[in-house]
Amino acid sequence: MTTYTIALVPGDGIGGPVIEAAWQILEAAAKRGNFALEAKSFPWSCAFYKETGSMMPSDGIETLRGHDAILLGAVGWPAEVPDSVSLHGLLLPIRKAFVQYANIRPHRLLPGVEGPLRAGAFDILCIRENTEGEYSGAGGRVHVGTMDEVAVETSIFTRAGVERILRFGFEQARARRGKLASVTKSNAQKYSMVFWDEITRKLEADYPDVEVTSYHVDALAARMITAPESLDVVVASNLFGDILTDIGAAIQGGLGFAASANINPERSAPSMFEPVHGSAPDIAHLGIANPIAAIWSAAMMLDHLGEAAAAADIIKAVETATAQGIGTVPGRDRTDAITAAVLAALA
Ligand code: NAD
Ligand code: IPM
Ligand code: MN
Repeated sequence: MTTYTIALVPGDGIGGPVIEAAWQILEAAAKRGNFALEAKSFPWSCAFYKETGSMMPSDGIETLRGHDAILLGAVGWPAEVPDSVSLHGLLLPIRKAFVQYANIRPHRLLPGVEGPLRAGAFDILCIRENTEGEYSGAGGRVHVGTMDEVAVETSIFTRAGVERILRFGFEQARARRGKLASVTKSNAQKYSMVFWDEITRKLEADYPDVEVTSYHVDALAARMITAPESLDVVVASNLFGDILTDIGAAIQGGLGFAASANINPERSAPSMFEPVHGSAPDIAHLGIANPIAAIWSAAMMLDHLGEAAAAADIIKAVETATAQGIGTVPGRDRTDAITAAVLAALA
């Protein structure tokens, strides 16, 4: 029997309860399947920062590297630690160090979830570039505090980085409905985004079976709301993908449903699975965080590990629960009750 070792990083706020919920579901799925899961939990978080002065130990990345996958809750407690410190101290370095360049975020309505749109069924797979672009961390400030102050944040796009994420998008489109939306802002950003468009044009010759359309991000954002059913796979840069996937979360009923996988496609390092949402300080101690985004992310982890049947069983169990109306109204059902309903459906 295969045993997978999973690094759990619950993080801050609702990260703890949603990872706890996802782990219960994973254990139940493993019991039914022919595999075992072994968890090692790491308390790295803003509380850890306040105790130690860093978000994770200096060998944190090397410690995580020894696992088959990472399941993360949420990072950030802005009332006590600035986000620019916490996110650059934990979440973002993991994505970069482990070359998790493909961030996959599915957006569709689960049965029983109404969503805010009048639109019918939609099924969008957002592929977000996850290691460079607007999140490169290059830049600085001069003449700080004076009226001459200038702040520069440089986006770095490399040919290798753009080509690999676009190829990943083409491959996903090929495996789905054959449509790829490539997102830029090349009418305003004349270097990086023109570069992205050029590489899209170059690659389309390799994928004659995929219908690729280039959109400007503003138009694509509107389309996600007015005609989401017209979209299949959407591929976008790091920041554009971040924003579009919160829109994706909104149209699928809220952040409590939006799952995400940070994938290293070459498997040269572990991939990381986490809900799209953050630590939700506004509801952190109320026991009402929706664990479905984390549970769905855990299913994506099993799929990545090669346990496709168990992953599908978890999704089916979530769908059974939501079809009964459980977890479908934000704030109504408690985290424990939603988890119990998914467990019952799994059994
Ligand atoms: P957030 O996602 O934490 O919350 C936005 C809104 O959605 C809040 O009203 C919250 O209550 C609600 N919400 C989020 N997840 C929910 C769930 N599972 N169930 C029910 N309601 C849910 O975004 P924010 O408030 O902008 O950020 C809070 C902190 O989290 C910040 O420090 C931010 O930087 C961080 N953050 C971290 C991640 C991550 O770790 N991947 C992602 C986003 C934000
Ligand atoms: C996400 C989050 C992160 C991001 C933040 C917390 C740095 O918003 O995973 O969507 O922008 O990638
Ligand atoms: Mn985000």
